[in-house]
Amino acid sequence: MPGQSAHTAPMIAPSILAADFARLADEVAAIKGSDWVHVDVMDNHFVPNLTLGLPVVESLLKVTDIPMDCHLMIDDPGRWAPPYAEAGAHNVTFHAEATDDPRAVARDIRAAGAKAGLAIKPGTPVDPYLEILRDFDTLLVMSVEPGFGGQKFIAEVLPKVGIVRRLVDAGELTVLVEIDGGISADTIEAAAEAGVDCFVAGSAVYGADDPGRAVSALRAQAAAAASHFAP
Ligand code: DX5
Ligand code: ZN
Repeated sequence: MPGQSAHTAPMIAPSILAADFARLADEVAAIKGSDWVHVDVMDNHFVPNLTLGLPVVESLLKVTDIPMDCHLMIDDPGRWAPPYAEAGAHNVTFHAEATDDPRAVARDIRAAGAKAGLAIKPGTPVDPYLEILRDFDTLLVMSVEPGFGGQKFIAEVLPKVGIVRRLVDAGELTVLVEIDGGISADTIEAAAEAGVDCFVAGSAVYGADDPGRAVSALRAQAAAAASHFAP
């Protein structure tokens, strides 16, 4: 549209991986006003860490209206991903590296009522997946190695964001571009300039004195940076 940015206001998805797991309902309440709440599911196989699974997601869905963004860092997503959609998650993202048939998994997630997301690790190129992104709603570009919060942002992944941003702006794809890992006041502008739509932030939100204010500040910073690059 003339005079308008091709993509909408930046979205912030706080990651509860950095929250106090003994007080999850309160921690989610503290980020009221967030666009999505990001829930990291790790199985200690796909990544060397173990977090939470479907029962915790089901409980969280009962205590919040914030759309839930489930990031599955697990093996065999074909088996385990659709139940998160059936439970009521808004977006269910699984890893491209974890399956030979990502399209089939996306189809099952969508059939179960959620948006389908494809995640790629920092070292995974996006080019082989551009064609199948037509069957997805979200692309999650990992900007740290999956498994742990609080790691350093890997800026070398940003060209992958740019490739997909240009295809979306050209009307060839309709995915939302999400970035995950090391997003903070120091790194969000570069990610916004590259064309990210949705920013996951764990330690930058839950490490702040006021998580709600941290969300607003990050969103404002991303919006200002993106506006310099609006077409
Ligand atoms: C890492 C997770 C991230 C993590 C981000 O595997 O996918 O969502 O919580 O944490 P920060 O923002 O602290 O890097
Ligand atoms: Zn994540």
